[in-house]
This record gives sequence, structure tokens and C-alpha cells, in this order.
Amino acid sequence: MRDSEFFEKFKIERKVFDRKTILAILKLMNKGYVKIVESLIKEGKESCVLSGKDKKDNWIALKVYRIEHCDFKNMWKYLVSDPRFYGVKKSRRSIVYTWCKREFKNLKIAFSAKVSCPEPIAFFENVLVMSFLGENGKPAPRLIDVSLDEKNALAVYESIMEEVKKLAKAKLIHSDLSAFNILLLEKPYLIDFSQAVPFSHPLAKEFLVRDLKNINSYFKKIGISVKSEEEIIKELI
Ligand SMILES: Nc1ncnc2c1ncn2[C@@H]1O[C@H](COP(=O)(O)OP(=O)(O)OP(=O)(O)O)[C@@H](O)[C@H]1O
Ligand SMILES: [Mg+2]
Repeated sequence: MRDSEFFEKFKIERKVFDRKTILAILKLMNKGYVKIVESLIKEGKESCVLSGKDKKDNWIALKVYRIEHCDFKNMWKYLVSDPRFYGVKKSRRSIVYTWCKREFKNLKIAFSAKVSCPEPIAFFENVLVMSFLGENGKPAPRLIDVSLDEKNALAVYESIMEEVKKLAKAKLIHSDLSAFNILLLEKPYLIDFSQAVPFSHPLAKEFLVRDLKNINSYFKKIGISVKSEEEIIKELI
């Protein structure tokens, strides 16, 4: 499918993209970050993730925040409590743009700290471009979609804890960590960093405990004996 047909299809039939979003993707194309948009990986309420290729034919993923569908009031609550974004304007568009920028910034911190996560490539307005996790355009499965045997499950659990530790060393807390936001390739990769906050956030500790509880309860259910959240936090800090 050609790009123009693709955009027309989603704009008209599914109302995924408004005109400004199409222009934002075209801008990223003109800058050379995106050569082609290939297909829709996931259409969510607030964002859509698309696969594509860059000018060197590497697979990329584009996360497009949907301006009209985002719960921008909720986003604003998160943003104003993040010391990095105190001054954000209260309009729908600027909140969504800042949300996208925040995901990019968070990914930068995580990727620089060698966390297994997508590499952030570029962002413009409500569109984030990152490296693609998967093979030949087929996205890696989410942890929630995979059934692990006991031996693998323990190794995956331990790897996830290593990733959380690396993130904590970089003073960042994912804040939306769960089996839905972990993709499994040869090892687990953390994704969906839009809610991640620095340690300086007033609710940082609460978010960290919530992340650890989510992961622990997932692995407990599949029979893995997990460390308590307190024990993990002691090791982290
Ligand atoms: N870099 C990537 N490579 C391959 N697939 C990806 C990538 N990022 C996201 N995906 C796919 O898109 C899905 C949705 O991504 P993500 O979790 O970031 O969005 P979301 O849950 O809709 O976001 P949010 O909670 O911020 O609205 C993932 O479950 C995964 O299947
Ligand atoms: Mg998600």
C-alpha cells in the first residue's frame, strides 16, 4: 500500500489521524527518519503504533498519540506533578505533544542506561519514532501473550528485575510496568515509557512499589517464588 492510500484509509475510514498528524508524519519523512509506513500494529484508545522503515530500510515503530481521543486531563495531572514539565500549557494539543516528548525523553534516559527498550530515534508533535522490536516487521509478543515454562519464567523474571535495577540507577521509574508493557525477544524488553517519572517525582516510591507488585503478582501466578517488594527496593536504592 502506498503512503497516501494508507493515510487516506486511516483518516477517512478509521479516523485515526487528523490532518496535522499526517503532516507531522510527513515532516518526519522529509527529515529522513521515516521512509515508509508499513502497517498498523496496534490501535489503542489513546495511541496507535505503526510499523515502518527508515531510509536505510531498518524496521522502525511509530507511536502516534491520538489528539482527539487522549484523556488529556489525566495526562495533565501526571505532567504537572513531574518536575521536568511544571510549566506545561493546559491546551489539549500542547499536553499531548508534551506527553509524546516525555515518552521520548524517558526512552533516551532508559536507552542510555542500557535498559533493554526501543531506541528513541525522533519525535515531532504527537509522533514518536523508535527502533522496532520484532523480526521482519512482525512485532515481538507481549509477555502477557506468552506461556513460559518454569525454568524460562524464572530467567525472564530475573532479567526484568535487572532492567528495573538499571532504570533505577538512572533514577527513573517506569510507572506502568506490567506483562502488557514487556515484549519478549531473546530477552525481555520494556516498552511504553510515557508515564515514567524521575526519582524526584512526589509519587515516585508509590509508582515503584506498584510496578514491582504488578510484576511479582504476574510471576507468582505462574508459580515463581518472587522476592518481596521491600527486599527488591532495598537492593535498588
Ligand atoms: N518499539 C516497538 N516495536 C514493536 N512493537 C511495538 C513497539 N512499541 C510498541 N509496540 C507494540 O504496540 C503495542 C502498544 O504499544 P504501547 O504499550 O507503547 O502503547 P499503549 O499501551 O497504547 O500506550 P499508552 O498506554 O501509552 O496509551 C505494544 O503492545 C506492542 O505490541
Ligand atoms: Mg502499553
